[in-house]
Amino acid sequence: MPTIPSGVRGAVITGWGTALPPKVLTNHDLEKMLDTSHDWIVERSGIHERHVGGTTAGLSVESGRKALDMAGIDPLSIDALVLATTTPDRCVPATSATVQQALGLRCGAFDVNAACSGFDYALVQAHGMIALGAKKVLCIGTDTLARITDWTDRNTAVLFADGSGAVVLEAVEGPGQLLGWDLDADGSAEKYLYAELGGNIQMEGKEVFRRAVRIMVDSATKSMSHAGVTADQIALVVPHQANIRIIEAACSRLDIPMEKAAVVLQHTGNTSSASIPLALCDALDNGRVQPGDLVLLVGFGAGMTAASLILQWGGPGGDSKVLA
Ligand code: ACO
Repeated sequence: MPTIPSGVRGAVITGWGTALPPKVLTNHDLEKMLDTSHDWIVERSGIHERHVGGTTAGLSVESGRKALDMAGIDPLSIDALVLATTTPDRCVPATSATVQQALGLRCGAFDVNAACSGFDYALVQAHGMIALGAKKVLCIGTDTLARITDWTDRNTAVLFADGSGAVVLEAVEGPGQLLGWDLDADGSAEKYLYAELGGNIQMEGKEVFRRAVRIMVDSATKSMSHAGVTADQIALVVPHQANIRIIEAACSRLDIPMEKAAVVLQHTGNTSSASIPLALCDALDNGRVQPGDLVLLVGFGAGMTAASLILQWGGPGGDSKVLA
């Protein structure tokens, strides 16, 4: 991928929000449904509980509204809505159309399906639109995987769940927060993780695990190289929340200590497109990101896709002014 040309108009994140369905399914609940155990799930994945229920549009509206409120933005001033999801509510129209209407937006709206890398893909799209003249873009990542999970299959049922996270991006004068990015896909690996239309997720867990670590590390390394930064400069890494062992292995290979990782999967499970924004928002809400900090977002997913971005929080200097 090319490095970002100089002179391109940038953006910063000015608002964020999340949504999780109220229903919590614990590992002990799953023990009653499947031949599994709390201890096995925690040891092999790090997950203790997950939220299930709701629709992709419903959760997106909830997280999107919170992000707009935090940014203090009139919905009519949003120039585009990008919704990352691999579980749209219908084939047609895109779920973003339903969300656009419910939030009172009057702008272009489209879905992006890059599985668990989807939110990173959406963020790159949003920065591209801002470079082309848009001033305010709403990016949402939402998935309702419970609807496409076979609850009798212990290989997948212990991992997947539902949720949503959203951010508002606003244009700034000059370069913004995005220092480097990478998007990747390898269609030859699609057989390891897929769901037919109307079907449930099928997964070869071991193969996905093996590839996931490699492609996350490759993508993050490319983004850091494009940004001209090194791993020791990263203040926070926000990885896809699939499995704590995948996160630990990727951080170890990247030489980034686990204390710098944002991890929420113990309470959320794998929420695909929502997992990176859920972890990012949690870190932001807990004051883990300061102006000027370098944040690495890195995901992988079915496709097999990989994606990463290096953001400097608040833009260079940490205090970029948004355009009126
Ligand atoms: N409960 C209890 N035992 C289980 C379960 C379960 N839920 N699932 C499998 N087992 C058993 C297996 O049958 C096996 O038994 P055996 O040794 O007698 O044959 C044993 O536990 C070990 O199974 P493994 O598959 O080797 O377990 P592993 O350590 O690889 O963990 C897991 C499995 C958690 C699925 C792991 O491989 C993984 O996380 N893979 C990546 C999955 C992933 O990230 N998917 C999402 C991609 S992103 C997206 O786009 C949605």
